[in-house]
Amino acid sequence: MKSTQFSMLIPLVLAALFSFSMAALPHENFLHCLSLRSNDSSSISRVIFTRRNSSYESILEARIHNLRFNSTDTPKPLVLVTPTLISHIQASIYCSRKHGLQIRTRSGGHDYEGLSFVARVPFVVIDLINFRSVDIDVENRVAWVQAGAILGELYYRIQENSRTLAFPGGVFYTIGLGGYISGGGFGLLFRKYGTAGDNVVDVQFIDVNGRVLDRESMGEDLFWAIRGGGGGSFGIVLAWKLRLVPVPANVTVFTVSRTLEQNATALIHRWQSVAPDLPDEVYPSVQLRAINSTQDGSRTVVASFVSMFLGSIDDLLPLMEQRFPELGLTRQDCTEMSWAESILYNNGFQNQPLEILLNRTYTNPIITPYYKIKSDYVKQPVSETGLNGLFSRLTEEVASSTVIILFAYGGIMNRIPENATPFPHRAGNLYKIFYNVGWLEDGEAEAERRIEWARRTYNYMSPFVSKSPREAYINYRDLDIGSNNIGYTSYGQASVWGHKYFKDNFDRLVQVKTRIDPENFFKHEQSIPPHPGN
Ligand code: FDA
Repeated sequence: MKSTQFSMLIPLVLAALFSFSMAALPHENFLHCLSLRSNDSSSISRVIFTRRNSSYESILEARIHNLRFNSTDTPKPLVLVTPTLISHIQASIYCSRKHGLQIRTRSGGHDYEGLSFVARVPFVVIDLINFRSVDIDVENRVAWVQAGAILGELYYRIQENSRTLAFPGGVFYTIGLGGYISGGGFGLLFRKYGTAGDNVVDVQFIDVNGRVLDRESMGEDLFWAIRGGGGGSFGIVLAWKLRLVPVPANVTVFTVSRTLEQNATALIHRWQSVAPDLPDEVYPSVQLRAINSTQDGSRTVVASFVSMFLGSIDDLLPLMEQRFPELGLTRQDCTEMSWAESILYNNGFQNQPLEILLNRTYTNPIITPYYKIKSDYVKQPVSETGLNGLFSRLTEEVASSTVIILFAYGGIMNRIPENATPFPHRAGNLYKIFYNVGWLEDGEAEAERRIEWARRTYNYMSPFVSKSPREAYINYRDLDIGSNNIGYTSYGQASVWGHKYFKDNFDRLVQVKTRIDPENFFKHEQSIPPHPGN
C-alpha cells in the first residue's frame, strides 16, 4: 500500500479504535481525546492497549513480579499506554485529567504494594518500557538513563565502558530506575557514596500540565522532592542524569554462614556494633532464614554474613581480623571480581555471563512468587534475648520461605544531613531490617496466614527498633503503616505514614506538592497530599 493511501486510512482506523458515542465510557472518552490530541495519531494508536487487544494481558503481566497483585480480583487498568514519544505522555496526562481517570506510572513494576499498576478507581497505566536508553559518558563520569531502564541495564552499560566506574544502586537488577530513585534507592555502595538519589545531577520530568522540566526549570525544591519523596506523587520522571563513582578494578566479596548451633546469635549481637563502624568501603549485611538442622533435623536459623569490600583480599583480611575476629573470615571465604560481577554474585549468579543483567525476568531463590515486605531501623543493639525471640518466630512453619536481611548503616550515611534529600534515615542508625515474607502457594487464605505472621513479628520487634516515629523505608512500600483514602486525601491521615517514611521532611514534601500539583492529580494510596486548606 502506498504511504498516502495508508495515511488516509489512519483516521478511519483510529475512529474504529476510539469508537466514541454520546454515552461513551470514561476510557472511550479518554481514547477519543488521545486521538484528537496527538500530533501523530498513527504512532499513538500503536502504543495504546485496551482489553480488546490480544497483547493487553501480556504487556500488563510482563511487569507484575509479585503474583499477589495478579489475581482475578485485582483491578486492572482501563487502558495501558506504552509511550514511545514524550507527546504520548503529555496527551495521556491531559486526557486523563479531562476525563477523570487516574494515572499510574510504571517503570520496573517492583512496587511492593503494586501501586504502579493497581488502583481502586478507573485508571490508566503509563508503562515506560520504551523509555529505556542508557548513555554513558566515561570522560565526565555521568550517565543519562531513561526511567524505564532497569538497574541491570545501567550496570551492564557502565561495565562495557569502564571496569572502574559504578553507580550506587541496588543489588536486585530488574528494579526500574523510575521508581527506585524516586524512593531514594540504596545499594551495595551506599556506605561509601550515599543513596542513588544523592547521586542524581539532573533530570527530565513531565509535570501535571505536560511541561517538560529539567533541574534548572523545575527549581531546587522539586528537584529535591523527586529524589526520595516516593514515586507517583509529583509527576513523571523521564530520565535521570547520574553521577558515576570510582571503584577499584577488583572488589572483594565474601559469604560466611553460621547456624544457631554455631554461635550465630552471639555473632549477630556483636555484628550490630561492629558493622556500622567499619570503613565506608565495606558493605556488610546479614541474611537470616530457617533451615533444617544437620544435627537433629529440627528447625534452626542460618545467618549468612554477606559483604562486599572496595579493595583486595589482602587488605580486607587484616581489617576483619582486627575488627571482627569472632567471624573467623578466611582467604577461602573471599573472592575478587569486578564491581559488576559482584552484583551477579549477590544475586547467586557467580561466574555467569554479565548479559544476565540485561534480563528483565528475575530469578533468585529469595524471591518467591508471592511476598509482603516490612522494614525497620535499629538505633541500639538488640539483646541476645530479643534476637532469639525473632529467631524462634523465623523457625515457625509459616515463615518457611521468609528471609530477613540486616543492612548495616554508618559510613557516609552518618555525614549526609537528614534533609539533603527526602530520604531521612541517616546518622544514628546501626542498621535497617528488611522483612521479606514470601510464599509459594496461591490463594487468599495462604496470603492472610503469611501476612498475619509478618504483622505479628513486626509487633514483636517494636521495643527494639526506632520509635516516634517508627521509621520505615518508602521503597519498601507497606500499606499497613497507613494509607490515603480512595478519592479524598487527608493531610492528617497522610502524615501518619508520611512521618514514618520521611520524618520532618514530610512537611517540605507537602509544600512542594502544593506548588506543583495543587489539585492532587498524581495520587495513590501513599502519595504526598497537597497542603490542607489549599
Ligand atoms: P514501579 O514501576 O512499580 O514504581 C514504583 C513507584 O514509583 C510507583 O508508585 C510508581 O507509580 C512510581 N513510578 C514508577 N516510575 C515512575 C516514574 N518514571 N516517574 C514517577 N514515578 C514513577 N530498593 C532499594 O532501595 N534497594 C534495594 O536493594 C531494593 N531491592 C529490591 C528487591 C526486589 C526484589 C524488589 C521487588 C524491590 C527492591 N527494592 C529495593 C525496592 C524498589 O526500589 C522499589 O520497589 C522501587 O519503587 C521499584 O521501582 P520500579 O520502577 O521497579 O517500580
